[in-house]
Amino acid sequence: MNDNTSETPISTKLTLLKRIQLFSDLHKPALKKIADLLEDMEYQKGHYVFKKGDEGDAVFIITEGSVSVKDEDLVLSTLGEGDVFGEYALIDNKARSASIFAEETLRILRLDRTSFSRLLTENKEIQHGLLHLFVNRLREHDVLEKQLADQTKQIIRQKESLEELNKEKNHLMGIIAHDLRNPLSSTLSLAELMKSESENFDEDQMICINGIIKSLNRMVNMVDRILDVKALEAKQDQLNLEKVELSELIKNTYESYKSKIENKKLKVHLNLNTIHARVDRQYLLQVLENLLSNAIKFSPPGKSIFINLWIHDGKAHIGIKDEGPGISSDDHKKLFHKFQQLSAKPTGGESSTGLGLSIVKKYTELMKGNVWCESEPGKGAKFVVTFKKA
Ligand SMILES: Nc1ncnc2c1ncn2[C@@H]1O[C@H](COP(=O)(O)OP(=O)(O)O)[C@@H](O)[C@H]1O
Ligand SMILES: [Mg+2]
Repeated sequence: MNDNTSETPISTKLTLLKRIQLFSDLHKPALKKIADLLEDMEYQKGHYVFKKGDEGDAVFIITEGSVSVKDEDLVLSTLGEGDVFGEYALIDNKARSASIFAEETLRILRLDRTSFSRLLTENKEIQHGLLHLFVNRLREHDVLEKQLADQTKQIIRQKESLEELNKEKNHLMGIIAHDLRNPLSSTLSLAELMKSESENFDEDQMICINGIIKSLNRMVNMVDRILDVKALEAKQDQLNLEKVELSELIKNTYESYKSKIENKKLKVHLNLNTIHARVDRQYLLQVLENLLSNAIKFSPPGKSIFINLWIHDGKAHIGIKDEGPGISSDDHKKLFHKFQQLSAKPTGGESSTGLGLSIVKKYTELMKGNVWCESEPGKGAKFVVTFKKA
């Protein structure tokens, strides 16, 4: 460092001082007083002006050369002629937050806090100027704060109206789905009845009735899918937790799928203990139905399904294991996500929407339980759900 360098002209000093935000509003006489305090300094290339952690004692303005602002070895930025650094050291003596390194021979003006403080106590205009600056800053801050508050209010209002709209949409979907499903199912039953008594139908009439049944089936599936989407949006507050005996619920689920199981000539092995857990009966029923219907749907005819209920680590475990194609590691990542129809395809023409497992996950987690799948591709899949014992 060398402070015997030739002096910077006063006009340059004044222009440079204006660049320091704290002084930008000051008039010339006050600026001149500050300019008198500026010290010309020179640093050789490769030297530090100050280091991170040093006590801040002055502000600097570069008149020639450039510096890098560094945090250890990381260069945060580079500054050149006319740039200012260390501004806040005029007000307080907090430690420097970065180091300043001379990238080439450097000429800078230094304004020391002690002499500036002395000037500040003597000079009313600088005091006023600074107060003015701070008041303006506070005002700007208030305006920003108000804008922010307004925007926050607006966002909250938009969120509320979106929630309202979503509720309306769900309500409407519910009405449509429920009210459509009944007449659709009865039309489907009627069409099937007609077909079963079709001895007198000619070929064209047979094509028609088959077409009608196929379309109606598609419509029923679509409506079911809408109902599934609605189920997915179910919220915590609709949960009705109670102490439930699990083996009974599992047996009931199994009974309701008996005809599908027989149609596919599957063998089901039940191994259930009597275990109680705090769950929502309806939600758990849907979880079990989805897992069992998958095991049935993706099993080739003639295979076995194992349904177990046991206690491990103080938790009730329900396992549904099949001998179907299993889940590949690629599919494993997408399992439990919405609308995922993965590699395994139904083996008996069953419908697939890819929503079942996302409902399983959603409901299980709502009931504070866990669900996962263990599978070796080609060797079947085992889905396990656990709940805290009641
Ligand atoms: N037990 C299983 N064995 C093999 N694959 C399965 C099994 N259960 C689910 N999968 C795969 O995960 C996908 C998503 O399942 P799910 O969400 O229940 O939808 P869906 O039953 O409507 O197809 C299925 O399409 C299937 O590819
Ligand atoms: Mg399913």
